[in-house]
Amino acid sequence: MPSDFFTNAAVLRRAATTMLLLVVMALSCFFLYRAAESVGFRVSYYKYSPIVTHVMPLFEDASHSSDSEEYSLERVLKEASMEDKSVILTTLNDAWAAPNSVIDLFLESFRIGQRTRHLLNHLVIITLDQKAFSRCLVVHSHCFGLITEGVDFSHEAYFMKPNYVKMMWRRIDFLRSVLEMGYNFAFTDADIMWFRDPFPHFQPDVDFQIACDHFSGNSDDLENKPNGGFKFVRSNNRSIEFYKFWYSSREKYPRLHDQDVLNRIKYDTSMLEIGFKIKFLDTAYFGGFCEPSRDLNRVCTMHANCCFGLDSKLHDLRILLEDWKHYLSLPPSLKQSMSTWRVPQNCSLNSLHLAEEPEDEGQILDR
Ligand SMILES: *[C@@H]1O[C@H](CO)[C@@H](O)[C@H](O)[C@H]1NC(C)=O
Ligand SMILES: *[C@@H]1O[C@H](CO)[C@@H](O)[C@H](O)[C@H]1NC(C)=O
Repeated sequence: MPSDFFTNAAVLRRAATTMLLLVVMALSCFFLYRAAESVGFRVSYYKYSPIVTHVMPLFEDASHSSDSEEYSLERVLKEASMEDKSVILTTLNDAWAAPNSVIDLFLESFRIGQRTRHLLNHLVIITLDQKAFSRCLVVHSHCFGLITEGVDFSHEAYFMKPNYVKMMWRRIDFLRSVLEMGYNFAFTDADIMWFRDPFPHFQPDVDFQIACDHFSGNSDDLENKPNGGFKFVRSNNRSIEFYKFWYSSREKYPRLHDQDVLNRIKYDTSMLEIGFKIKFLDTAYFGGFCEPSRDLNRVCTMHANCCFGLDSKLHDLRILLEDWKHYLSLPPSLKQSMSTWRVPQNCSLNSLHLAEEPEDEGQILDR
């Protein structure tokens, strides 16, 4: 029957049209996705790609996959932020993430410090490899996976070896992006024990405040020996410019590491021109094994700097925590008289001299 024929033809035509529509839709989705992806990569000039920051199902939200990089960092920072948009940041790699290694001691110090426990809510652990990220998820609630293409930071980064230098620079570039998102940050190495809240010590009108290996006695003195392991930086145009300048200096001083470059550029007049204000933190409050905070009634943080070898570092950090617990257990009258630490022991300046010609591949030097 012709009518049947026509009906069938109409059905077929409709089916074909539907098919075509589906194909077109699928294709445009595909191209849209690709376009979004490439825009995402162009817009984000940071050279890292994030891995999941929370356990996120695959394809959860494909439209966000293109900008998930900034999206997820933004989200982690927001969740950890204090009211004034300040966060505490540390970086972590495989070597320091193992159980009973540096990260556990670091987190313990916040728990046993005076009024430092709540600061854990504001701490973001930036992990540099997959193992560190997995461990972070177990021990902490704010983790962000930072991946640098083509570089594996999962092993101990030996001081001044190429990967160590790359990691340092990567960190500077990353911290600049945090400033650009409007967050002030206290950056702390994980081998710094937090015994008291440092925030009351940060001055409001200063852009950049940094701890020292050696403190000259004057917080404005550019001759101080800063240590990049601990600093508080306010987010503003001056600090963003400074971080850009610092990062760009790696081309001028290709063989120096970030801290040595900082020691040169701190004298640069262009920093004065933009009105960048820097202060050095007193080792009486922000000490380390190079120059300990001798008075336990005043100490905020202690850094396992001037230390060669991860085993030595862990050895002395454990004694440091024991000393602190002992101090806390003392009655107030005795607290005044207990004034110093039993460390450094295995971390010593003598061991630093060995570091100039490292023989043992298993050794790590951190200043
Ligand atoms: C930087 O400067 C611009 C214009 O001078 C201003 O609009 C902006 O708010 C400043 N940003 C910060 C973070 O201070
Ligand atoms: C610390 O030093 C002591 C004495 O030199 C040594 O016996 C011990 O093995 C060292 N411990 C570590 C973990 O390096």
